[in-house]
Amino acid sequence: MDKIVINGGNALNGQVRINGAKNSALKLMAAALLSDAPITLTNMPDLADTRFMAHLLAHLGVDVSRENGTQMRLHAKALAAPFAPYDLVRKMRATFNVLGPLLARQGHARVSLPGGCAIGARPVDLHLKALEAMGVQIDLQEGYAVANAPKGLQGAQINFPFVSVGATEHALLAAVLAKGETVLENAAREPEITDLANCLNAMGAKVTGAGSATITIKGVSSLAGATHRVVPDRIEAGTYALAVAATGGDVLIENCDPAHLGALWDRMRAIDSGVEHVDAQTVRIIQKNDRCAAADVETQAYPGFPTDLQAQFMAVMCRANGASIIRETIFENRFMHAPELSRLGADITVHGREAIVRGMPTLHGAPIMATDLRASVSLVIAALSAKGQSEVNRVYHLDRGFEGLERKLSALGADIKRVRET
Ligand code: UD1
Repeated sequence: MDKIVINGGNALNGQVRINGAKNSALKLMAAALLSDAPITLTNMPDLADTRFMAHLLAHLGVDVSRENGTQMRLHAKALAAPFAPYDLVRKMRATFNVLGPLLARQGHARVSLPGGCAIGARPVDLHLKALEAMGVQIDLQEGYAVANAPKGLQGAQINFPFVSVGATEHALLAAVLAKGETVLENAAREPEITDLANCLNAMGAKVTGAGSATITIKGVSSLAGATHRVVPDRIEAGTYALAVAATGGDVLIENCDPAHLGALWDRMRAIDSGVEHVDAQTVRIIQKNDRCAAADVETQAYPGFPTDLQAQFMAVMCRANGASIIRETIFENRFMHAPELSRLGADITVHGREAIVRGMPTLHGAPIMATDLRASVSLVIAALSAKGQSEVNRVYHLDRGFEGLERKLSALGADIKRVRET
């Protein structure tokens, strides 16, 4: 298994280019199932997760090819049997979003219930309820959702009891080809939802209100092909910004959308990190002090502070000048990085959904283990700011979501390398 070896202590300086958003890319890929014409996605990241989704789509009969490195063409001309087996679904939750499009195209489907990062129970009840409201009959049998839409998908009024990114996207993917109008209330407002709606509209769908809590979809009978540019990855951009806050330095983060990270910039200003908006695609992070100030943070659905940056923020707080309280409101078990950060000398106490981090002047390198995707990059950030050598094990978690992490960090001056072990 590969590991990443980091000699901490170097400041980060220079420029880093952000990729397209993994979380958006996965749902855009699922959208290709909705049309028999080709979809071309540009600014596509090349990650373990996008490859995994490509395998599943190929199994479902989609012709998937990579062109020019950052472009992917998906053509669902004629689909195979609508069956998504456990082995092609279990590693990643976003794969479950193929169910709605398969029902829209084929009227029935059998899709394994998903796996994904071990950050709490993460059920799919809201996904299933939304589909049921659209006239789908669903039986859960031996770990599979066996679904039939005997009269086709029907437009519906769907009120989500709480905000779910995945369920909003799933309902959207199903509703575009449903008969009549669908209204989603209490919909997620993440930029990835707007990105999906933009792509669907480019394919001929009639979606309005994406980015607000009420999304209206007027069903159409078929969708065409389209070319769509994947929105920049706000989590990758935020991760590099927090890495600079941890190590010190001066970095231009390019090809991102700083407007999608307002809640992060607010917290970074609170900890005395310099955030300069250079233009609509570029932000500059300047960290002059060796130690940031401490500040509290609470994760919230967009436009609040993203849960996917909570671990990285905690890594920064480990060396802050003071104590901070970090409250996780989205997932019930998302502090698995805390004990690993403690191995580097961090002082963290977890009480349920709250962690108290007392900043230490120095962290010390140690062997550590990645536990989930965002947690693992928080360990990298902490190791970059620690004295001495750290080894991050189980780095396959990182490969799910961060393209070229070592290459990008090395270019910024970090002493980081991947050691391949057979
Ligand atoms: C997506 C992102 C993930 C991010 C999360 C929250 C992708 C591939 N993943 O995950 O990186 O951390 O949004 O911003 O886009 N829930 C239910 N029932 C459901 C669905 C969700 O109880 O049917 C719960 C979840 O367990 C969680 C909360 O709702 O506690 C929010 O989850 P959700 O927004 O759905 O996250 P994902 O779409 O899985």
